[in-house]
Order: sequence, then C-alpha cells, then structure tokens
Amino acid sequence: MSIDFSQYDPTSLSIPAAPFSDPSIIPHFEKGSVPRHVGVIMDGNGRWAKERGWVRTEGHRHAEPVVFDIIAAAIEAGVRYLTLYTFSTENWNRSPSEVRFLMGFSRDIIHRRVDQMNEWGVRVRWSGRRPRLWKSVIDELERAEEITKNNKTIDVVFCINYGGRAEIADAASAIARQVAAGKLKGDRVSEKMIAEHLYNPDIPDCDLVIRTSGEQRVSNFLAWEAAYAEFEFVPELFPDCNREVFWRCIEDYTHRHRRFGKA
Ligand code: IPE
Ligand code: IPE
Ligand code: MG
Repeated sequence: MSIDFSQYDPTSLSIPAAPFSDPSIIPHFEKGSVPRHVGVIMDGNGRWAKERGWVRTEGHRHAEPVVFDIIAAAIEAGVRYLTLYTFSTENWNRSPSEVRFLMGFSRDIIHRRVDQMNEWGVRVRWSGRRPRLWKSVIDELERAEEITKNNKTIDVVFCINYGGRAEIADAASAIARQVAAGKLKGDRVSEKMIAEHLYNPDIPDCDLVIRTSGEQRVSNFLAWEAAYAEFEFVPELFPDCNREVFWRCIEDYTHRHRRFGKA
C-alpha cells in the first residue's frame, strides 16, 4: 500500500502541554522504591491502526504524544533513566515504506521535540548501531545529545537500530580489537569489561521492563542490561497508553521482592 506522506501533519495530534500533572493525581511512591532505570517496549501501534481500518503508520503517528506522556510520567515518578525501544535491528524486515516512515518520523520527532525535552531537563541519549541507520537520524540524535548533555532530571535513551545481541556482539568486537592489539589477554575478558563496552556504559542495569500490547516476549531488548529486570506486560496497545498506565507499572514494581539469587 502506498502512503501519501505529504498529508502527514505532525501538529495535528494533541500533546501534553507540560510535564507536570496536578500533584494530587501523582501516586505517592515510597522513597527508594521507584525503579532507577525503566525500559519500555512500545508495542501495538500497527494493531491500533488496523482496528480503525487505518494504515499501520497512523499508529506510529499516534504514538508520539504517548511517548511524551510517558517521559512526563517517568519524571514525575522520579525515574532517573528511561530507555525507549523505538526501532530494532529486526524492524528492517518490515515493508520498505514502513521502514522509511519510521526513519523519517524518528528523525522529525527528535528535531521538533528537542527544545521541549531540554526544558524538561531531559538528557537525550541514543543506543544502537551506526551502520545502516539513516545519517539524518544519527545527525538529529547527536544534535539532541549535544544540546541536552548537561541535563540531570532524567536520561531518555532512544534505542534506534538497536538489538540486544548486536550490542553484546559490538562489545565483543571492541574487546577483540584490544586483544589483537596486544593490550589485553584474551582469557581475561570479564563481565565488567563487557559492561564497559556497551553503547552507554555509564547507564546502570535496567530494573523494570514494561511491554505494551499484551505480547509477552523480549524481542531482543536490553539483553545484557535487563538480565535481572522485573517485567510488566500491559494489555493496552501503545497509542492507548498514558501516564496512569506507567504509574500502575511502577506501583506494581514497588511490591516486587527482588532476590538476585540470594535465598
Ligand atoms: C511498535 O508497534 C512500534 C515499532 C516496533 C516500531 P508495532 O509497529 O510493532 O505494532 P504491532 O505490534 O504490529 O501492532
Ligand atoms: C519490538 O517490537 C521492537 C520495538 C518496539 C521497537 P516488535 O513488534 O518489532 O517485536 P515482535 O516482532 O513482536 O517480536
Ligand atoms: Mg509489534
């Protein structure tokens, strides 16, 4: 199906005006109980559009305001790192027109939202592989990273051309280069060393992964960082999500008992 992109009007969708809710509606989370790092697998856009008889890309378009509602929710809950699965290494297998839409759309969102994120105290980060990713997307991501680099309220990581296995393979390659250069002994490779060669080594492990749309799988998200994460699978399709859905997941997480292998 061909899509007429000239009809695409990014300003037609409602967006949250401010990151701050009426304080009376923000749930009270016990100090120290909120996950430091939350990852979100934003899934179900295509099905949401299909339910309405629309093309899949309409679902992606309607996801934009939800992304910013979730960022606002994370700020209000006191989450320090939020990782958003935006485009996976497997998503290249979609139709050329959908891939083209997702690339252009990601680039445009970063461009038109960078000032808003900057005002909110967001430090924009990118996690993913360079080869194959559109240069214009990388340029916007790097520009946003530069503009927001001193912000400290929350780090928002956009995973674009990201795969958990690709990230580990890339770390292994970097380490192998050091071994080949004689800087490191091959039998001295440790978990710590691999963690230090991930795309954003300063970001701590993921505490909670939320996946929308009812699917209960990982789909190559944060294979290393979420090795000990808690999971929340919510039935809502991503375009139907909002900050209440996010807070519900945080609230549920606060009742989890994480053992990390201890008895
Ligand atoms: C998530 O929604 C967005 C991306 C993976 C880019 P989908 O496009 O996967 O929507 P469904 O899962 O097909 O409904
Ligand atoms: C995971 O969703 C990738 C993103 C949300 C970016 P998919 O829709 O691509 O995953 P599968 O195909 O259902 O596993
Ligand atoms: Mg999907």
